[in-house]
Amino acid sequence: MPKVVLGRPLSKVVIIGLGLIGSSFARGLKKWGLCEEIVGCARSSSTLEKGLDLGVIDTAEKDLSLAVQGADLVFLSMPIGATEKILSTIAPYLGENTIVTDAGSVKGCVVEAAKRVFGEVPENFIPGHPIAGSEKSGVDAGTSGLFLHHKVILTPVSGHSPEAALTVTALWEAMGANVILMDPGTHDKILAATSHLPHLLAYSLVDTMAKDDESLDIFRYAAGGFRDFTRIAASDPTMWHDIFLANRAATLEALDEFTEDLALLRKAVDTGNSQDMLGVFTRAQAAREHFSTILSQRAYLEKMSESMNEKQIEFILQPGSKVSGKLRVTGDKSISHRSIILGSIAEGETDIEGFLEGEDALATLQAFRDLGVVIEGPHQGRVKVYGVGLHGLKAPPGDLYLGNSGTSMRLLAGLLAAQDFSVTLTGDKSLTKRPMGRVATPLRLMGAQIDTGQDGSPPLAIKGNPSLSGIEYPMPMASAQVKSCLLLAGLYADSTTVIEPAPTRDHTERMLRGFGVSVDQRGDTVTLQGGQTLKACSIDIPADISSAAFFIVAGTIAKDSEILLEHVGVNPTRTGVIDILRLMGANISLLNERQVGGEPVADLLVKSADLKGIDIPEALVPLAIDEFPVIFVAAACAQGPTCLRGAEELRVKESDRIQVMADGLVSLGVDAQATPDGILINGKGDGQANVFTEGTVESHGDHRIAMSFSVASLRSSGEIRVLNCANVATSFPSFVSEAQKVGIQIIAKDVQ
Ligand code: S3P
Repeated sequence: MPKVVLGRPLSKVVIIGLGLIGSSFARGLKKWGLCEEIVGCARSSSTLEKGLDLGVIDTAEKDLSLAVQGADLVFLSMPIGATEKILSTIAPYLGENTIVTDAGSVKGCVVEAAKRVFGEVPENFIPGHPIAGSEKSGVDAGTSGLFLHHKVILTPVSGHSPEAALTVTALWEAMGANVILMDPGTHDKILAATSHLPHLLAYSLVDTMAKDDESLDIFRYAAGGFRDFTRIAASDPTMWHDIFLANRAATLEALDEFTEDLALLRKAVDTGNSQDMLGVFTRAQAAREHFSTILSQRAYLEKMSESMNEKQIEFILQPGSKVSGKLRVTGDKSISHRSIILGSIAEGETDIEGFLEGEDALATLQAFRDLGVVIEGPHQGRVKVYGVGLHGLKAPPGDLYLGNSGTSMRLLAGLLAAQDFSVTLTGDKSLTKRPMGRVATPLRLMGAQIDTGQDGSPPLAIKGNPSLSGIEYPMPMASAQVKSCLLLAGLYADSTTVIEPAPTRDHTERMLRGFGVSVDQRGDTVTLQGGQTLKACSIDIPADISSAAFFIVAGTIAKDSEILLEHVGVNPTRTGVIDILRLMGANISLLNERQVGGEPVADLLVKSADLKGIDIPEALVPLAIDEFPVIFVAAACAQGPTCLRGAEELRVKESDRIQVMADGLVSLGVDAQATPDGILINGKGDGQANVFTEGTVESHGDHRIAMSFSVASLRSSGEIRVLNCANVATSFPSFVSEAQKVGIQIIAKDVQ
């Protein structure tokens, strides 16, 4: 059994190849005290001498057979083409417990080389690949921090020693790297696309340009683009020669795919096909931004981000006193989703302003790009959607990942049930727990084929059926998402009727009308005839009342405060929060009421008020469904008890908002009790300045919980910490800076 380095240094590590990677590994071992002696091996004496002079190695040894004897670990970091030869040289001298690992950029060939040398891959051989480096090479180029925050992929094969894998993992982690396990084939395919192909292209482009008669001029004037694109052509040619040969099949596959796409782009440029060009460029731009997001470890639209370390944000709030000023909060989330969906299936170009650049709405936007729609932006809230018509969506290249966004999943389920392709909708941990049976069941009645996970949870595997039949569906729950899902599916059926048990937000109906579709609304019944063409239009999205709600409550509960919230959407199906707070005694005035693109809008003037507890009328529940967490904070500041009933829906939002809010309130010293369908909060009354004690609350990754407890700080006696706040970016990415602007003492701390 090899020694496991968790806690004490190894005695002897041998590094074969003292280039950038080998010498950085040696420096890392030294810096973090991970071994007692480092023996360096290299072909050139001058490299070894330099290694000794620089203090990178303790001992230099040209004879590999002598070097590896008695070693705890041997690290191969010479060009990959030499792997087999080196392994056969050292094989007879390796101790029973010596761990061998490497840093080669291709893993399949390393595993094959080990098999040829040893008969089978030895249990102590743990192939690896640090995804770090630079175009620089040589022993003096190394740094001890080269691997910090970089990934190292280990590809142990079956039968390997777990202790050996743990030891190698521990070494890399001690140097600050994140270790990922993968099989060698997957590694080689991924690296062919992300590293090997770009190097091939960079070498080729520079070579083509250098051969050109004008090359001197080209190089003289080559500025940012050429420099950025070709930086890696300065890399070590022998190393890359070896890599391309070692990963020939996967590199060629990636190159062929690229060549095909390049030919299409050539044609688009040649024929002046703007749509095709913009399609490629906007998709690429989004993917590139998305890629940076993953690298900065924010959870957004990417399955990988869940398995990687998600960004952990905590809000730290100092007790505040008053708020003041004016704000235009970000665009309405519900309307933002719908603008992309309807714009995509319309004919013509839809221009959107005020689009919410939050992760949920961006999930919808990215999904439609994946469905073949060209979308420019978002840029400062402006988006242009090149509609493809009712029948123009295309099968996406893979599953559609919708992050945290329930609205995206439920609305897309309806639309995609009617297409002539199949698609699977997935999401993050929270979304995966949310009920989708509520859309799958009626869609199946329309003839859709949908498989869900256990108990109707995501993923949703949708086998498109272009000939859905209309239904008349009395909804068992008041849900705008279910209604909208069925209306979207209904665009592809004969006649669809949805009956609501209580009014819910009607943005879909209003926006469909804006796109020229006739929607019949009689009392609780909405009917839509399928087959109608949507005509592109302009959409001006008002500020989101659900985001404004945090500041409505802030302005109400903070003493001596006045705040103006501009251009807020006040659609009557969304203003339950205003009605409830007014019943409690809030001072909220609607100024400058107007219609903007079919939606009522107003500026809200909010002044401090003494609140009293109430029984919240059940009819208002669907009209304030997203605002209850912050209404509960207001209730805690009111005089006497507030009781909410008939709100079991809150238990299946991004978190169980009844329980999570009750727990948080209790931990801040408020008397609150969750009930199966609501909550009872004994307000502390307005006599007291401080309603909440200091404390720490867990938001369970629910954006609205995190923001609600931030508002509570305005009436707290001490510091409030709110954990797990990264998802505030799903609906209100600028919350922290807006809150600071009006006087809430908040900072966001990255606790990764
Ligand atoms: C939404 C409807 C509501 C709401 C959600 C957005 C919409 O959900 O909670 O945040 O955009 O249609 P339900 O319709 O499920 O109540």
